[in-house]
Amino acid sequence: MGLICIVSQNSKQTYTLTLEDSYYFSERKLIKASPIVLEFYEDTLFVGFVEFDIRVFNKNSYITFYVSAEVRGKGYGKRMLEFALSYARNEMNLHRLTAEVYEYNIPSIKLLESVGFELEGRLREAKYHEGRYWDILVFGKILNT
Ligand SMILES: CC(C)(COP(=O)(O)OP(=O)(O)OC[C@H]1O[C@@H](n2cnc3c(N)ncnc32)[C@H](O)[C@@H]1OP(=O)(O)O)[C@@H](O)C(=O)NCCC(=O)NCCS
Repeated sequence: MGLICIVSQNSKQTYTLTLEDSYYFSERKLIKASPIVLEFYEDTLFVGFVEFDIRVFNKNSYITFYVSAEVRGKGYGKRMLEFALSYARNEMNLHRLTAEVYEYNIPSIKLLESVGFELEGRLREAKYHEGRYWDILVFGKILNT
């Protein structure tokens, strides 16, 4: 019998993962938590956000962050991330944070390093931008140290 492949975006197939199968899959196969977003304001002016994309079972969260263009370079990014680290540790009970950054995003890399994230790895040529491939850098921080 030949092997048949069906290509689709939304599989209609249902299948059962055994408990043992689940040990080898990402927990995202079982659970996708809604993102948690911290929004920051200076008085009524929105200055930025930190978003948590949480891996519940593993107490890990991917984070993304953004500071409004007109207030960059004034320390808001660092203050926001310091608050987010404290909130993640003391209120969300997370064990670690992960951030993926394009290698050309120097402000973001500097910001992560300034609050204690360490470079843990690189996804080689995983980002296409302006006609060439760039690496994605994986930064991490363990929260109980
Ligand atoms: C990355 C970003 C959040 C930085 O915010 P910010 O408020 O400008 O950063 P801060 O003023 O708090 O600076 C934090 C640190 O980064 C460094 N930094 C900030 N901008 C920099 C730049 N353009 N070049 C070099 N270093 C820079 C600062 O020197 C500071 O380090 P220090 O404390 O050791 O001096 C902001 O540029 C941004 O929103 N960029 C677009 C969105 C983005 O790239 N998000 C990340 C994807 S997840």
